[in-house]
Amino acid sequence: MAHHDPLIAQDIAAYLSAQERKSFLRVFTCGSVDDGKSTLIGRLLYDSKLIYEDQMAAIEKDSKTSGTTGEKPDLALLVDGLAAEREQGITIDVAYRFFSTDKRKFIIADTPGHVQYTRNMATGASTADVAVLLIDARYGVVEQTRRHAFIASLLGIPQVVVAVNKMDLVGFDQSVFNDIDVSFRAFASELRFADIMTIPVSALDGDNVTTSSDKTAWYKGPSLLGFLEDVRVDRESLEAPFRLPVQWVNRPNLDFRGFAGTIASGTVSKGQEVITLPSGKRSAIKDILLHTDSLDHARQGQSVTLTLEDEIDVSRGDMLCGTDRPPEVADQFQAHLIWMDDKRLFPGRQYIIRTANSSASGSVTSLKHRTDIEDLSEAAAKTLNLNEIGVVTLSLSKPIPFDPYTENRKTGAFIVVDRTTNRTVGAGMIDFALRRAHNIVRQDLIVDRIARASQKGQQPTVLWFTGLSGSGKSTIANLVDEALFERGHHTYTLDGDNVRHGLNRDLGFTKEDRIENIRRIGEVAKLMSNAGLIVMCSFISPYRAERRMVRDMLGENEFFEIFIDTPLDVAEERDVKGLYKRARAGEIKNFTGIDSEYQPPDDPDLRIDTTELSPEDAADRVLELLRSRYRLDDPANVVGDGGGI
Ligand code: ADX
Repeated sequence: MAHHDPLIAQDIAAYLSAQERKSFLRVFTCGSVDDGKSTLIGRLLYDSKLIYEDQMAAIEKDSKTSGTTGEKPDLALLVDGLAAEREQGITIDVAYRFFSTDKRKFIIADTPGHVQYTRNMATGASTADVAVLLIDARYGVVEQTRRHAFIASLLGIPQVVVAVNKMDLVGFDQSVFNDIDVSFRAFASELRFADIMTIPVSALDGDNVTTSSDKTAWYKGPSLLGFLEDVRVDRESLEAPFRLPVQWVNRPNLDFRGFAGTIASGTVSKGQEVITLPSGKRSAIKDILLHTDSLDHARQGQSVTLTLEDEIDVSRGDMLCGTDRPPEVADQFQAHLIWMDDKRLFPGRQYIIRTANSSASGSVTSLKHRTDIEDLSEAAAKTLNLNEIGVVTLSLSKPIPFDPYTENRKTGAFIVVDRTTNRTVGAGMIDFALRRAHNIVRQDLIVDRIARASQKGQQPTVLWFTGLSGSGKSTIANLVDEALFERGHHTYTLDGDNVRHGLNRDLGFTKEDRIENIRRIGEVAKLMSNAGLIVMCSFISPYRAERRMVRDMLGENEFFEIFIDTPLDVAEERDVKGLYKRARAGEIKNFTGIDSEYQPPDDPDLRIDTTELSPEDAADRVLELLRSRYRLDDPANVVGDGGGI
């Protein structure tokens, strides 16, 4: 290494123990594409002499071929390790760099500035102590600056230091720096930063990066590294109440049951009373195990296994907590949400909501507002697009323990995952539980669904017919209904055209409205099934996500997806209602199959090809499906006599 502390040779033990005592600072860097972030980090490493000599030789060589800095070594090459980003000239993923000075150890999360990579930014920032925000002196405060500052503040990073970079390109002009300083402070005064610092730098030449520059005699503050070495950090976590999100239950034999996870906040001691949530059961800590050692205490950040004095039920996804200030448990929240996907947010759609250790399905029940990044004003909105930030209400499929994000960054954060693509599409911060979640308690019914179904002597079921308009869904559903009715079953049919005259008359055919249409129908079908009925649902229901949502709302063998597979040209040829002709003429917008998407089922319970089967034969197939899937021999699945279809 180019850098040698003489203590290494003299007294390695003293050197190592000095290293250990140094405090850690977690730094998060952000800025737009060409603000020079990689160069700045490279400069920090280079000037603090933390580059291996062989690395330096490689950079000097690479600078000649792919560098962007002429004769000078391109320090960005040190940081931009990935081949792809070298080619594109941008940094792609979150990379962590470790380095230390005499005063402190640093971890720098280097995150990309490109708009599309806000996703990585949110994951890199959540534990940072300081955000270093780069601004190109030539362009000043731009939209990206505002967006990143807002996100950093939402993520609860207490300090922001603005590095006004490329001062060399504006002749180290004090007035340029002052203007940027004033305009950033004006914007950031609305944000939650405890402190704001601005420093004029040139990452390329090293001015004010690790040492003060004589080119900015008018600037009296510290260099960037000087600031980072001295900045005070108040970490919330040790005084914060104890939280251990249980990652797994370690049960090697009947005599041992340990609950393993990383302590999200606070400390825990042997003998301490704890509460497990959501169940609310209490016990005391019997032992704290770190690998094979037994500890008296453990603290935030340590991964431990806890055993308890009592045999209480604790599973993965639960949270072990101190009894003083335990977290709340709720299934409805208000939250801030940063949307990170090209595909916009669809309120009402089911996503997977993942917290520190648990996962539930959930949807945005309303979008309260979207924040305008220009001036942080709040505007009404129907959706969030890529990189937009809003305040939403969320409803989850089950209650989870949580703290408001402002009180605990680990137990108050969540990510949103798309159920079909498995991509992380959003990151959120819980503000508070909705009071209605506390005030509405499910009322147990004396006559339950099993009683209602037995009285009717049938197993309640939802038969879900999906397909294009004019595919024959309603015709076939009607024939099935008739056949069941004639055999003495209790049935009902919900049909798109009918429901849209009443319950859903406020809905049109935009994607949002179709999602809401199916959500409501799903709820109605579920109520009808609870009432003991066999329900035919005949809706285009063009999206897989919503059909799956309805399936998930119902029990096993309570939902059958029947794909009425009629090719578009055949449905259009039939054009029973004359709608295709009008859609082609441009008189009807968003018509399924023409200018609105239909996603065919991947794996329906039954596929009916109407070009081969008559409606009567198709109805017979549906009845056969019911006969084969009604589990007559399994009492757990059968209600009454199983229907005798
Ligand atoms: S869904 O897409 O939201 O599931 P739904 O089944 O309720 O649709 O309603 C579809 C019926 O509405 C069609 O059979 C057709 O008669 C009528 N309709 C009117 N406009 C449209 C449109 N733009 N796209 C599809 N169907 C339409």
